Amino acid sequence: MTSVSIIRIALICPLLALITFCAQVETADETDEESIFEPSYLSYDDIYRDFTTKKMCKRCHPAIWREWERSMHAKAWEDPIYQEAANQVADREKKCDPCHAPEPILITGIGKMPTLRTTDREYGVSCIVCHIDAHGAMHGPHESTNPMYHANVTSEAHAKPTELCATCHGQPSVPEHNQVDSFRESAAAEQGLTCATCHMPAVKRRLSVHSYDNVSIRRHTWAGSRSVNKLRSAANLKITRAAGKATVRLTNKAGHLLPGEALRAIILDTKIFDANREMTRHEQVFISAASNEPEARRLAPDETREFLYPLGDTDQIEAKLLYRLIPTTPETEWVTMAEARQ
Ligand code: HEC
Ligand code: HEC
Ligand code: HEC
Ligand code: HEC
Ligand code: HEC
Repeated sequence: MTSVSIIRIALICPLLALITFCAQVETADETDEESIFEPSYLSYDDIYRDFTTKKMCKRCHPAIWREWERSMHAKAWEDPIYQEAANQVADREKKCDPCHAPEPILITGIGKMPTLRTTDREYGVSCIVCHIDAHGAMHGPHESTNPMYHANVTSEAHAKPTELCATCHGQPSVPEHNQVDSFRESAAAEQGLTCATCHMPAVKRRLSVHSYDNVSIRRHTWAGSRSVNKLRSAANLKITRAAGKATVRLTNKAGHLLPGEALRAIILDTKIFDANREMTRHEQVFISAASNEPEARRLAPDETREFLYPLGDTDQIEAKLLYRLIPTTPETEWVTMAEARQ
């Protein structure tokens, strides 16, 4: 054998190996598809229909259903504040509705702009929006060994769901609703937390009514702007006094911009009283996306902002942090997030 033909064989062999390998991978894929999606599991269309006509998920996952039903995800379409805002937008079907009544995002693509559903919009961000794929299989973080009604696919995208959330909470073209970009710069992200750590609290319970053991799963509550407890965990307020002045320190403890949404405002409300309890000064700083003043811009994650006030020796200072849902929310409905006095 000449040296030339030896070189040829050396080149051809890995090539042949590669072709055989590819062929094997392809066959393996085909058999997998057949074995996972046996006729005993319902198809995408069947499950989609059952979801709206029979609310099937509720039958086997009742606890999760009840949590979701009360969350803003379930109300994402019918929410009157949303409907009123969207009605002001000329092409709302293109610009607004796709995230408020989306097609399943595992089909349109995690991270890609969702597309608008043609039917059943009243279910908003429904169970199937986050869980179903084009075969009708449900993606979740567990290795479910007990498939019933639907097939299961184990999914890292659900176990650590920040990218999943970013599909709607992190579109670069929709900065009003973006919590994900600022979260990525936070200490929380550095410590390995995800959106679910704070918004889907962990709980031990059965995965479905057909499961035997309690496992660690996550509540589908997504507490946010409507939860007084959530709002109270968002910030720290501290006052220190030194000769002739007081320093109010406001620290953001939410994992992202505070307030987290462009419509909202938080109000630092400070009052100074003299020795006779007469109010001598009252100041309100409105912190929101609408403001360009350095002291009134939204707080970055982990940011501490200081506000200085002159203060006599016998004076008292009281500070409150208040939360205003939308610009028309009356003052009587602002929520107290934190208080401090000196
Ligand atoms: C990229 C997806 C996306 C698009 C597009 C979108 N939204 Fe939203 N919207 C969200 C998310 C996510 C929230 C909840 C997060 C938040 O509060 O920031 C939300 C919340 C809201 C809220 C707050 C509702 C309430 O009751 O608190 C209003 C109002 C709203 N959207 C209006 C609109 C309007 C108007 C448009 C079109 C101009 C629009 N949205 C387009 C994703 C989207
Ligand atoms: C906004 C997206 C979203 C929606 C809507 C949603 N889920 Fe989930 N679901 C998730 C994520 C993320 C997890 C992973 C939680 C974890 O790490 O345990 C999950 C987990 C699950 C699990 C596995 C148990 C667990 O918590 O790990 C089940 C079962 C489930 N969801 C059912 C449902 C049902 C039923 C609905 C509707 C009532 C629903 N989901 C709505 C995102 C969603
Ligand atoms: C007839 C009962 C039944 C119905 C109806 C049902 N499921 Fe399930 N589901 C199960 C069982 C059983 C498991 C596996 C539980 C286990 O492993 O312990 C499961 C698991 C899951 C998981 C977790 C997958 C994983 O591996 O983490 C998700 C997500 C899920 N279901 C979503 C849904 C959604 C969404 C609906 C409604 C469209 C639905 N299920 C309807 C019985 C059902
Ligand atoms: C360290 C805990 C923590 C983490 C991590 C976290 N959040 Fe929040 N989030 C909060 C707190 C506290 C609030 C209430 C304060 C506020 O409204 O900004 C909140 C509020 C929200 C709101 C409502 C905003 C508003 O004012 O209407 C949305 C939407 C939200 N978070 C989404 C997310 C998403 C998406 C992620 C992941 C990128 C995430 N959060 C990560 C703690 C957290
Ligand atoms: C398919 C789009 C979509 C996905 C995916 C999604 N959300 Fe939402 N989310 C919305 C919309 C739309 C709303 C606002 C509904 C409204 O207020 O009208 C919302 C509301 C919320 C709220 C309540 C906001 C408030 O003002 O109180 C929280 C918290 C939240 N989402 C967290 C998450 C987390 C965490 C994830 C990932 C596990 C996630 N979302 C995934 C679309 C989505």
